[in-house]
Amino acid sequence: MSRRNQSDDQPEATGLKKGLTSYGDNGFSLFLRKAFIKGAGYSDSALTRPVVGIANTGSAYNPCHGNMPQLLEAVKRGIMLAGGLPLDFPTISIHESFSYPTSMYLRNLMSMDTEEMIRAQPMDAIVLIGGCDKTVPAQLMGAASAGIPAIELVTGSMLTGSHRSERVGACTDCRRYWGKYRAQEIDDQEIADVNNQLVASVGTCSVMGTASTMACLSEALGMSLPGGASPPAVTADRMRIAELTGAQAVQMAHDKLTIDKILTPDAFENAMRVLLAIGGSTNGIVHLAAIAGRVGLDIDLQALDRMGKDTPVLLDLKPSGQHYMEDFHKAGGMATLLRELKPLLKLDALTVTGRTLGEEIERAGPGFAQTVVKSAAEPIYPQGGIAVLQGNLAPGGAIIKQSSADAGLMEHEGRAVVFEDAADLALRIDSDELDVTADDILVLKNIGPKGAPGMPEAGYIPIPRKLAIQGVKDIVRISDGRMSGTAFGTIVLHVTPESAIGGPLAYVQNGDRIRLSVSRREISLLVSEQELASRRERAPVVVPSAERGYKKLFLDTVTQADKGVDFDFLRAPQTKGTVPR
Ligand code: FES
Repeated sequence: MSRRNQSDDQPEATGLKKGLTSYGDNGFSLFLRKAFIKGAGYSDSALTRPVVGIANTGSAYNPCHGNMPQLLEAVKRGIMLAGGLPLDFPTISIHESFSYPTSMYLRNLMSMDTEEMIRAQPMDAIVLIGGCDKTVPAQLMGAASAGIPAIELVTGSMLTGSHRSERVGACTDCRRYWGKYRAQEIDDQEIADVNNQLVASVGTCSVMGTASTMACLSEALGMSLPGGASPPAVTADRMRIAELTGAQAVQMAHDKLTIDKILTPDAFENAMRVLLAIGGSTNGIVHLAAIAGRVGLDIDLQALDRMGKDTPVLLDLKPSGQHYMEDFHKAGGMATLLRELKPLLKLDALTVTGRTLGEEIERAGPGFAQTVVKSAAEPIYPQGGIAVLQGNLAPGGAIIKQSSADAGLMEHEGRAVVFEDAADLALRIDSDELDVTADDILVLKNIGPKGAPGMPEAGYIPIPRKLAIQGVKDIVRISDGRMSGTAFGTIVLHVTPESAIGGPLAYVQNGDRIRLSVSRREISLLVSEQELASRRERAPVVVPSAERGYKKLFLDTVTQADKGVDFDFLRAPQTKGTVPR
């Protein structure tokens, strides 16, 4: 039975008849719409086809999306081959290094742009083309709220480069080489030379950073075509996936395969498993929580931690391992990983193909010999990459990427060396006067959702220069911020509630003792409750605010890390459940 509008009991409009502009005369609205689009040379025959919108995030400010013209051409070809009419439109595009103060500050704005443009313009399905870190979650959040059939296409990873015979890629090697430069192990000439090699082509970062993580999670959620996560940006495989994505969008429009049928609790559970097994970016948790919130689901962080105990890290990619995304693709991509993870997955979860994840794993056929995806019997790390910590320093939880931390620091007690905010950090971290040893714990406040604002990736606090020169490679670091998925170290992140709203982190002082125990999942401030209460009374926190504009909207409505740092009014009005169920 066809779906009908509640208001007039008419069959639901499709194609160009959808969402007619309000002139008070629908016949005239359609007449005018067709007149205008015919001005672009379309025929009546073209205008009767199912319309597939394409969210075009090409931007000169976003080299991670530098293959957008070729992708658009391929997606449009796929749509037309399948009998649809492609209509692309621009949305906000966000690049990590070109976004002030931080890309996360703009993710929700991009999600609103995506949602409202899907709602406002006539389309029966939408192809979302994203790639750089925040773009894919923003698109999935927006599409989840808009509710029509939607399919994600990522731009694909960049190629690796070569520096003095060593293979390099953004951005784990960017950080590694910058660390060497700070430690005075390499000179000005070498840091300039490697700068030419770290990003060898357009496309997203070549390691298991946030972009690669979200590409894999999108496929695990069932939101991208099987095999869609791993082809590099400049390959024929990427263009073929783009063509197939366009064709599949037309099929989804015919089948009315709306996004709510795919973004189910089982799909999110699969994504959580995959996040753990790929040693994925810690940002993946925040984004999954935000996407889930749009369909009324809460991610249970304690359950994620429990799942981590029986989910080994299988993917040998930097920063947890050795390889790059192009190696993962040659090793079979997500099919190889999912085959290995099969006993832990919810195989009945539906995907954009209209088939289940289990059926897609079967269709991918048998595996082959390769060295990038390890077997469950011989993982690169025995437990999931991410552990969830709790304690009086983080009553709402905190996380650590244990797979890329120093094993010798995972059980550690030390003296706090406190930086009040990012500016204070920049001012003092390299000072010879900084009172710090390798046994201390660096604490950075005010980089949470409201603090900076936008929860910047400043949680990767650099090793103080005086220690770096001594050869110190890792030190325990704690903040309410995030860190790039390309970074590594013993780094506690997402401390909730954040310091800017008066979380306990706000009251840590230089010299306090802090205890980190990853085995006990503990992060504790060894200061009495009376002393903390007296500090709170002496210097209460003033919560940041703004008078106008997007910053006001952000500061008034942004949620904490455990809710995905989404705006409270963008979450689904009703909570339907928790993931896993
Ligand atoms: Fe765009 Fe890394 S900067 S994916």
